[in-house]
Amino acid sequence: MCFAMKETILLKVDPIKPDLLKIRRAANMLKNGGLVAFPTETVYGLGADALNANAVKALFWAKKRPIDNPPIVHIEDRKNINKLVAFVPSQIEILMEQFWPGPLTLVFRRSDMVPAVTVAGLETIAVRMPKHEVALSLIRESGCPISAPSANLSGKPSSTTANHVFDDLNGRIDAVLDGGPTQIGVESTVLDVTVDPPTVLRPGGTSLEALKEVLRRVRLHAYVKTGNEHAIRIARSPGMKHIHYAPRAKLVLVEGPLNTLMEKVIELVGTYKAGELRVGVLATDETASKYEADIVLSMGSRFDLETIARNLFASLRKFDSEGIDVVVAESVPMDGLGLAVMNRLRRASGYNIVKV
Ligand code: TXA
Ligand code: MG
Repeated sequence: MCFAMKETILLKVDPIKPDLLKIRRAANMLKNGGLVAFPTETVYGLGADALNANAVKALFWAKKRPIDNPPIVHIEDRKNINKLVAFVPSQIEILMEQFWPGPLTLVFRRSDMVPAVTVAGLETIAVRMPKHEVALSLIRESGCPISAPSANLSGKPSSTTANHVFDDLNGRIDAVLDGGPTQIGVESTVLDVTVDPPTVLRPGGTSLEALKEVLRRVRLHAYVKTGNEHAIRIARSPGMKHIHYAPRAKLVLVEGPLNTLMEKVIELVGTYKAGELRVGVLATDETASKYEADIVLSMGSRFDLETIARNLFASLRKFDSEGIDVVVAESVPMDGLGLAVMNRLRRASGYNIVKV
């Protein structure tokens, strides 16, 4: 198959009441095997018809994504899940009732109708229903389930604005629906419900605490828990193995109690500056004024992990656009969305973690 560069059209839409004509134009592109990026409540997704193998192959090409890492399939109506999955375990119905639409992806046994490329040859399939009117109306108008990985070049931080999508994918996809910046800022939580107890493969927009309120038992995959690279060997989710979320700059993550952590950040900044590098610090509102570096970006207050999650990926991209060589990043508390933020930061650092 041959993939060619093309003109990428920008379609600006209202995030709450999107213009149906623009949505239909984008939906027609999807129906014809095209690629359309669109906002969800988490991050921007890059969509293709999940049941069209050639469209999904084009999706992997556009993102330069390794073909062993399947994207999530997005639906707009729960009854459409029947085409995709072999069965829904009865104790899992409650999760769909409570969390869909929303930032929770469920991994099921797949049905035979799904092309192998859509699930990277796996016997399972990851499905979610996004909570965003642009995404939902696009899926509805296209009439097909939509495979949609995050709309970034593979390995880069996910896109939380249409500009990020353009920076990475201009000329490689048909259109971007611009519905403004996304709300949550980190991707959905991926929960494997083919195992007992259900297991979180990727922490994300639905917190572990919220899942525990509904499920009697739920486990964090060892890879998520330990946060070290050795756990990659036992990865269950293909996406765990690949480099991810990384800015071009080298990123060092400092973990530990706040006071010693700040001292370490100051020390590392000094060391890198002495080496004539352009240094950035990824800080928080409580600490940002204490640092002197080429740029200091605050993700938000340490007491407001939702804001931190929302700003994370844009901050990582900002360091690159400012030509920073090395970023020293603070760790944040691991509760609520903090678990997802720390997972992204650890992976962005390539496990280059300094514990104090
Ligand atoms: O919030 C989100 O989930 C965003 C928006 C666009 O919906 N999408 C997203 O997709 O983050 P993607 O493709 O970038 O991440 C999908 C994750 C990867 O870690 C992948 O390995 C995992 O889900 N995954 C997909 N299919 C799987 C399967 N059958 N079993 C286990 N993990 C799977
Ligand atoms: Mg991704």
